[in-house]
Amino acid sequence: MVYLDNAATGFPKPREVTAAVGECIKKYCGNPGRSMHRLARIAGEEVYAAREAVSRFFGADDPEEVVFTLNATYALNTAIKTTIPDGGEVLISDLEHNAVYRPLKAEERRRGIKIRTFDTDGDIETNIRAALTADTCAVVSTLRSNVTGKEIPLAVLSKIAREKGLILIADASQSAGHDRIDLAKTPCDILCAPGHKGLLGIQGCGFAVFHDKRRRDSFIEGGSGSASASPDMPDLLPERFEAGTLPTPAIVALRHGIEWIERYGIDHVHDRLQRLTEYAKESISQISEVSYCKGDGGILSFRIRGEDPSLTAERLDRAGICVRSGLHCAPLAHRKEGTLEGGTVRIGFSVFSREKDVDRLLHAIG
Ligand code: ALA
Repeated sequence: MVYLDNAATGFPKPREVTAAVGECIKKYCGNPGRSMHRLARIAGEEVYAAREAVSRFFGADDPEEVVFTLNATYALNTAIKTTIPDGGEVLISDLEHNAVYRPLKAEERRRGIKIRTFDTDGDIETNIRAALTADTCAVVSTLRSNVTGKEIPLAVLSKIAREKGLILIADASQSAGHDRIDLAKTPCDILCAPGHKGLLGIQGCGFAVFHDKRRRDSFIEGGSGSASASPDMPDLLPERFEAGTLPTPAIVALRHGIEWIERYGIDHVHDRLQRLTEYAKESISQISEVSYCKGDGGILSFRIRGEDPSLTAERLDRAGICVRSGLHCAPLAHRKEGTLEGGTVRIGFSVFSREKDVDRLLHAIG
């Protein structure tokens, strides 16, 4: 089998991740931050070690800024719905995933926020500046499209946000673990990401790094293990946004995934993905039946002329190759690319992908 659907979820996981999850479940998976006994204490220490790993890896100020969530969508909803003021104008890219677009559309209906879009073709900085108005209060943007792999550099977003005093929420779903992100150099107010893609963890946890210390309303309320007599969620992060039991095994996996990348080197991961994408792009675009092919930074979309992408993906599956087809939950990107009808076939590489995986894909397309 050739697995090329890492943009949806990473597979396989490093041995260290699988072993750490097994050990957690077998040896110490008490409820972190709740009971006082040893299993709960160890679980709590492991969760804190994961906060430290996320904080260190992304250059955050403090592990307590790291809020664990169910996934990146949940992190983005928390960020968007507790940060954008009523009636505020928000600028988004023309490539956003529904994890950004749908919460904003819901807030448009509920709270009258306004959504404007910037073009990601050409010079992104110029385009963002042109799309800003005197009313813009926030920018919410993906750092890499999950359809075309197009990068929207955090450095550009960060520079403009700081200069104009805008709230910046970044969706690092496709870049966390694949591209270097250093919040100390290129800050954003809230960085959201999943644990189960580039960071090599398992499904069940994502996170939001709250670089911005503004006091926010809570998002989901429930048990927090602290200040329990109060009818409100605790004021402090991370507890304010962590209602209910945390997914300890997934959080442990995330830490070990990050540590694996730290040992391998994020720049090596990035270069490897870039090389594979260039190789795949060059080869696939030479196939005369291919009518669309675009990719960058580990992600590539293509279409075969006259064939619905879901049929191509089905054929590839029969040949033992796992890819994703359709709209990839990103209708804005497909509208822009002219691929809204049927979407694309998408390849997502991981650090474990090899050139021979691309060769098998080419053979199967052929
Ligand atoms: N958002 C994920 C993807 O792009 C699931 O496939």
